Amino acid sequence: MPKPVMVDRCVCHDVSFATVLDWARSRDSMTVDDAKAQFGCTGSCGMCRRYLTTSLETGEPRVPLVLQQDKPGA
Ligand code: FES
Repeated sequence: MPKPVMVDRCVCHDVSFATVLDWARSRDSMTVDDAKAQFGCTGSCGMCRRYLTTSLETGEPRVPLVLQQDKPGA
């Protein structure tokens, strides 16, 4: 089985999820909108939003890429 491709950053703003998580850990709470305000993440193409959301929920700086064929019924 091939290794999954991992998403680890907002490409548009060149900000790693590890950087966002480090910043989030220094705060009481952190949302995607907080990350957008601080780093710009999700503010351009928006493709990183689902991955950043997962990263913030799990604390993992790398999230597997979801391809269209990964969706049930696709
Ligand atoms: S990859 Fe994050 S806004 Fe485009």
